[in-house]
Amino acid sequence: MNTKNASLTVGKSKKNLEFPVYKGSEGPEVIDITSLYKESGFFTYDPGFMSTASCESSITYVDGEKGVLRYRGYDIAQLARKSNFMEVCYLLLHGELPAKKEFNLFVSEIKNRSLVHEQLQFLYRGFPRFSHPMAIMCGAFASLSAFYHDSLNINDEEQRRIAALRMIAKTPTLAAMAYKYSRGKPFIYPKNELDYTANFLHMLFAVPSEEYKVNKVLAKAMDTIFILHADHEQNASTSTVRLAGSSGANPFACISAGIASLWGPAHGGANEAVIHMLEEIGDIKNIPKFIKRAKDKDDPFRLMGFGHRVYKNYDPRASVLKDTCHEVLTELDMQNNSLLKIAMKLEDIALTDKYFIKRKLYPNVDFYSGIIYKAMGIPSNLYTVLFAIARTAGWVAQWKEMIEDPKQKIGRPRQLYTGHKPRNYVPVGKRK
Ligand code: CMC
Repeated sequence: MNTKNASLTVGKSKKNLEFPVYKGSEGPEVIDITSLYKESGFFTYDPGFMSTASCESSITYVDGEKGVLRYRGYDIAQLARKSNFMEVCYLLLHGELPAKKEFNLFVSEIKNRSLVHEQLQFLYRGFPRFSHPMAIMCGAFASLSAFYHDSLNINDEEQRRIAALRMIAKTPTLAAMAYKYSRGKPFIYPKNELDYTANFLHMLFAVPSEEYKVNKVLAKAMDTIFILHADHEQNASTSTVRLAGSSGANPFACISAGIASLWGPAHGGANEAVIHMLEEIGDIKNIPKFIKRAKDKDDPFRLMGFGHRVYKNYDPRASVLKDTCHEVLTELDMQNNSLLKIAMKLEDIALTDKYFIKRKLYPNVDFYSGIIYKAMGIPSNLYTVLFAIARTAGWVAQWKEMIEDPKQKIGRPRQLYTGHKPRNYVPVGKRK
């Protein structure tokens, strides 16, 4: 894939260096600067990885200018409308859609691992009831490495496979347990006659004293949300998983690191912020005031759920979720709910307002997912947990790809040091 070289003149000696340029199957070409320091004594400086490809990957492709997101070459809208989350998990892990027999085997291998070790409920009981479910998720996920010793050897292909299945299978169980625990309600065991997503809704909403019937429209909507959030190439949490894994850390610990990174408001926390904003607006009549604030350069307020760092055309996940959102609201007969009315009005205004059109500030995936979750009766502190369930599939696929890459090295960025130059230690009594 090396098509040409890039040259760079550096240093006082004006040394001319040549670097190979690689062309991927899509997207911008990259300059391989691995030898730069050795050849010139210079590092590159790129906080936030604005121009740096941190790895080679064949899993997910994003073109923010064109509003494109593809998993293994398949367009996200096609997958969301025609596939299901289990099939997408298989696709991310194996690179191809499964044949029927492969799919059935994969689903049963996941179902057979949906229970977690009984001892884990005592770990849960150690947390305060008011814990944020993401705090519980970080701890509970990392603790899996203490229970499943037979899938910790990252150099054994079969152990890696089993760890991958375990992580995808157990995340919804851990997530539902975090919710039940925070509400003081009994844990609900998985019911393997249900599919992955319906089973999750069952563990979340069922109680032992009553029969719970999963609503098919809501289960389909949740499955669509899981597909849309399953992977997003080298975002902060995925890069965290890769960096943690590059040291040879066990897979459960690596995914727990990803969950911690996802928790940040700049990453997986935005859907929660959408609902808080809608509550703050409070009434349709207040919308113009908030739109005015969003446009005011001196006001830090922004319309949550609008705009995206990568998608500068539209967010392809939002286009799918907009339809799902309307299906859910219709199913639940909630078109007249006051918070949801504010959301729909806000969407109308932002899509027709010059300020938002000029800056290409379309509703993003978090705008609609927040509304759907709210309508389903899911508490806002669980929204990021739902993101984590879906993204576990992508994290696991990216972790496996990294471990199986023969070029893999421990991740070790360098720095631009701006601290003190050498100085002598002064005993405490002599310091000023
Ligand atoms: N409301 C009002 N104005 C906005 C907004 C907004 N939500 N987003 C951007 N702008 C304006 C911004 O003030 C700037 O205006 P000007 O050109 O006059 O200075 C212009 O649009 C460009 O903004 P930017 O800050 O340069 O864009 P960015 O790419 O750095 O920010 C963003 C992207 C997502 C952080 C930002 O749009 C934002 O804060 N949105 C709200 C939070 C949100 O919904 N985040 C979820 C993203 S989707 C989940 C995911 O994929 O991780």
